[in-house]
Amino acid sequence: MNNVVKSVKGTRDFYPEDMALRTWLYEHMRHVSESFGYQEWEAPILETFELYAAKSGEELVEKQSYVFEDRGGDKITLRPELTPSLARLVAARQNQLTYPLRWWSFGPFWRYERPQKGRSREFFQWNIDMIGERSPAGDAELAAIAATFLKRVGLKPTEAQILVNNRRLMDSQLAALEIGAGLRTDVIRLIDRRDKLSAEKWEAYAEDIGLSNPQIDGVKQLLGDETLWEKSDELPAFFKAVDAYGVSDFIKFAPHIIRGLDYYTGTVMEAWDTAGDFRALFGGGRYDDLVSAVGGQPVSAVGFAVGDVVISLLLEQLGRLPEFGNTTAEVFITIFNEETQAGTLALSQELRAAGLKVATYPYADKLGKQFKYADRIGANIVVVLGPDEIIKGEVSVKDMLSGDQQNIARPDTAKHIAKILESRNAS
Ligand code: HAM
Repeated sequence: MNNVVKSVKGTRDFYPEDMALRTWLYEHMRHVSESFGYQEWEAPILETFELYAAKSGEELVEKQSYVFEDRGGDKITLRPELTPSLARLVAARQNQLTYPLRWWSFGPFWRYERPQKGRSREFFQWNIDMIGERSPAGDAELAAIAATFLKRVGLKPTEAQILVNNRRLMDSQLAALEIGAGLRTDVIRLIDRRDKLSAEKWEAYAEDIGLSNPQIDGVKQLLGDETLWEKSDELPAFFKAVDAYGVSDFIKFAPHIIRGLDYYTGTVMEAWDTAGDFRALFGGGRYDDLVSAVGGQPVSAVGFAVGDVVISLLLEQLGRLPEFGNTTAEVFITIFNEETQAGTLALSQELRAAGLKVATYPYADKLGKQFKYADRIGANIVVVLGPDEIIKGEVSVKDMLSGDQQNIARPDTAKHIAKILESRNAS
């Protein structure tokens, strides 16, 4: 065992039960996306380095991206996020697409981060974005989608909150503190680190980037002002729309939410567990300049991305995950002996054609062993097609849960099994 080759640090293996959880999340993401009229799309996993250099921000591009030179000498990046790819696809067909464009996607991403609770180097993200709508109604639609998703996976407003702020609002407030435009990217990074650094380190960082003491006090005051949103040109309309969706209990103004990525221009949002046990559940916002930054015409956009790791940890901690059983097939057919084998395989195909999930033993063996295997794979309807049944044109069907065993005319097998499954679902 000790010699088994190790997986790459920060990656996860998806054994079937882990895969069942991922698929469960995916199904909820798909359901919510489609219920708001979004279409699924996908981009390549390999992108040019240049794509991210456009605007993702120094930390993601320089420190966290997997970058390598391919055999042709091109600088390639394993995608650390999807938004630049989305901007690239939109820019490439800008005049053929219908706006507002509503797209969603689910797939793997890579970031060279220190693996820890809620953070891995390979993770999955659900991305959902609306392109071509500039009003706060667009931001509110995305916030409503996020809240609908939280609710759908079983979270309550007391357990998870979507925190919202607006970069334009913060920009005008920083300007009022006489913080020059050249310094604001650094100040945004400073605000983004408020919860990541101790108070002393945060202040030292603020001084380092060149803020004066009154400016530091001014920034602190902004971060504590819960009514600051009233001064925004956009947030009052945003909160009104969110209210109309009936999801305002999930959504709250939070002046310290600013987002680490450079491309955000307006409303920004992050979801957090209220107990503060984990890192952000998801993040996103408005990015009106990204499509033009990758060569397209300017077009507004807003969206967010939910990672699979943190939401799974939170749902697990709260006991909200369903039991992912070990069931592989609903029906198991034994192989009585070598002579009956061909007929049994034909029967298995008939049952599959009738819509059942069917597994057979691969060869004739002791019946007890085959029943045991059926039990272990969770197939609790076992069909036996022995020589006696073949002569009578019947099959024997055993319901392993009730213990009930009956001989059924072979053509009625699928119907009989469907009835057993139905009565189980009903009870
Ligand atoms: P982000 O905040 O960098 O935003 O990532 C979004 C989410 O992806 C995070 O909240 C987290 O759930 C998950 N995530 C990120 N890094 C990791 C990691 N190392 N391990 C596990 N999960 C991780 C973006 O990626 C933006 N492109 C989102 C967006 C879409 N903005 C507009 N549209």
